[in-house]
Amino acid sequence: MRTKIVAGNWKMNLDVEASKKLAMDISTDIQNLETNNTRIIIAPTFTNLYPVINLVGMDTRIEIAAQNMHQAKSGAYTGEIAADMIQSIGVNTVILGHSERRTYFNETDKALAEKVNTALQNRMDVIFCFGEVLEDRQQNNHFSIVEIQLKKALFHLKPQDWKHIILAYEPVWAIGTGETATPEQAQEMHAFIRNLLSAKFGENVAQEVSILYGGSVKPANAKEIFSKPDVDGGLIGGAALHSQDFTALIQAIQ
Ligand code: PGA
Repeated sequence: MRTKIVAGNWKMNLDVEASKKLAMDISTDIQNLETNNTRIIIAPTFTNLYPVINLVGMDTRIEIAAQNMHQAKSGAYTGEIAADMIQSIGVNTVILGHSERRTYFNETDKALAEKVNTALQNRMDVIFCFGEVLEDRQQNNHFSIVEIQLKKALFHLKPQDWKHIILAYEPVWAIGTGETATPEQAQEMHAFIRNLLSAKFGENVAQEVSILYGGSVKPANAKEIFSKPDVDGGLIGGAALHSQDFTALIQAIQ
């Protein structure tokens, strides 16, 4: 059975005290929830990873992820963070390829393929994000755009690597806009992605990979989106910054 996942991407929000409070609130709020077969992941900013892990590290239901990392092992890359550094504080999951990284920091498919390789060499789990912009969808290019993004960054992998990959389909037009893909649009794309994986890596891989939907997921729309057969959870931005909303999303996937 595929793992269900609710992952919160805190982006560039919250200082250290606010991050600790939110992590603690989530830990408390999920105490009485049935969270079997659900991975709960939160991704604070780099400076807040260590304080948060120190605080809720004992809560085995909550995993901590980084929002990015550099592909090189170490070196003259001012302002960047390497996989070893992230792992040295106990973080073993990283979000890669978020559309904000692609758009504002010019992350290319090639760089992302390298980052994925580095993460896998370090035995980290990757939440790999991709998705089309509005124009692509309006011109009916969304399937081919998604296919290209996946092929360029992930199709060199071996079938066994996919144990460490979580996919996050995030149509860019739905991120932080309040506009969500309809459950049908999400399901259609997720099924398309699973077919691509099946053709390239075999049906076993395709059936085992968790595919998350991201883009304005909120308590009000989550249940319907999560109920679709190929939607295995969500990557959540805005609603992940409020413990009650985030907890409601975890409830919605049960
Ligand atoms: P949003 O962000 O939920 O605020 O739309 C999702 C994301 O960027 O992962």
